[in-house]
Amino acid sequence: MNDVTNTKLIAGNWKMNGLREDGAALARGLAQRALAAGGGGPGCALLICPPTTLLTTVGSVLTGSGIALGGQDCHAAPKGAYTGDISPEMLAMGCSHVILGHSERRHGHGEGDAAVREKVLGAWRAGLVAILCVGETQAQRQAGQAADIVAAQLAGSVPNGAAADNLVVAYEPIWAIGTGLTATLDDIATMHAAVRPRIPAGARILYGGSVNPQNAAGILGLAEVDGALVGGASLDAESFWTIARCCA
Ligand code: PGA
Repeated sequence: MNDVTNTKLIAGNWKMNGLREDGAALARGLAQRALAAGGGGPGCALLICPPTTLLTTVGSVLTGSGIALGGQDCHAAPKGAYTGDISPEMLAMGCSHVILGHSERRHGHGEGDAAVREKVLGAWRAGLVAILCVGETQAQRQAGQAADIVAAQLAGSVPNGAAADNLVVAYEPIWAIGTGLTATLDDIATMHAAVRPRIPAGARILYGGSVNPQNAAGILGLAEVDGALVGGASLDAESFWTIARCCA
């Protein structure tokens, strides 16, 4: 799925959710739908990013379904004395993608642009596509700084060598993540248009932040939006599939 096509990409970020049985059941629900649809998403590419503990389980359930597997974060180094971390090379044993610079890493774990940039380089070294998250806080938006903040994040965290087949950008306004609030369609289109000239031609720009089956058609209908990064609504197979179907 590293080839960049005109299809949209719907990525599910399960975050820290799922144990063996429910994680496998969720993956089975998606794999069955994908197989019934002839493999992959309904007119889009599908990616699942489960917690690290479920990568093997989910990966084996998804085998042959056309749904890709991704990690939620990684260390920059290939190996070493980094207790609790996972390397890009370890993810690459089953994954094609890794989410990097998510606001829950930037804010919850103090990761700045320089650290995120090193992780992107590590991901590329291991052959992974980096899904780089950027987005402003509510205060920054209210101060009229949203576009500048995102531009600065891109300048600080996209290394030289970015290309359409190794980088996906996810615009995720922080105030919209997990809150039920979504940016207006105008704001999404404006922000994506601001991101576009700052990344390689053809690289996908996903929207993320409370995407759900009700609002997905409007968001995914925007020409500037190349897919979605879905958190909460990716924890239910029917919801996630309904969002994916909005691409058809
Ligand atoms: P949400 O999460 O869909 O639950 O808002 C999106 C994300 O954090 O990627």
